[in-house]
Amino acid sequence: MFLDGFIRMCSDGFSQGWHERNGGNLSYRMTEEDVDAVKSTFTSSPRHCSMAFSAPELRGAYFTITGSGKYMRNVPLAPEKNIGIIRIDESGTGYDILWGLVDGAKPTSELPTHLMNHTARMKATGGACRVIYHAHPANTTALTYVLPPEAKAYSRVLWQSETECAVVFPEGVGVVDWMVPGSIDIGRETARLIKDYRAVIWTFHGIFGSGSDFDETFGLVHTIEKAAEIYLKARGAGIIRTITDDELRALGDAFGVEINKAFLE
Ligand code: 13P
Ligand code: ZN
Repeated sequence: MFLDGFIRMCSDGFSQGWHERNGGNLSYRMTEEDVDAVKSTFTSSPRHCSMAFSAPELRGAYFTITGSGKYMRNVPLAPEKNIGIIRIDESGTGYDILWGLVDGAKPTSELPTHLMNHTARMKATGGACRVIYHAHPANTTALTYVLPPEAKAYSRVLWQSETECAVVFPEGVGVVDWMVPGSIDIGRETARLIKDYRAVIWTFHGIFGSGSDFDETFGLVHTIEKAAEIYLKARGAGIIRTITDDELRALGDAFGVEINKAFLE
């Protein structure tokens, strides 16, 4: 059941230490079967909310989404208070809250980035992408203090920090330099990058990851965070050697993945 997977991801992220206070948020674009499985629990008098942006490609789509100001650690204890199900209305500029988000709660303040990312990844993957996840992992965020805000610099450092990385995200990662969170502008900029990179790092803030299911999305963010941790440990100790570009090319050949040539030297 999708709701179990959603709730498990919230609690796994908290266990990793990626969700201090209300940090981070999660959204899942539901399938027709998902909707059928839970529609008997939908309210007959939904709360309608309008958005300051439009998401025309998502008209009629249903999302399970975390609430603004809600703590990931509380999601398993009281799902209906901390998460909800929304349906984007026919105008594409608002939504109805059909289940959960009780007591006047609203979806995450990062709704613009979530919905714009869903639109971008839905197009990039022919509809396969369903999960958008925002977390505040410490090592990934620390990395943003020591690297220039360029996709090539981050992608190379991460690929070089753990052999798995170039296979897991051969396209590299995108980077958004500091912007006001929760804004429509940061949503647009993140979505522009996430069509090419499944993960986008927000400078001095955290990361957005995407994927077709919860495992894939959590695994992607986990892999990036682990590589960032290894890099920072190695950098602290003093790096004397690393994975070479020829070794990265050999990985691509062995695993049949196209490693982004623009980032190889
Ligand atoms: P929300 O509580 O509104 O989801 O915000 C948390 C966050 O991480 C903002 O970037
Ligand atoms: Zn955040």
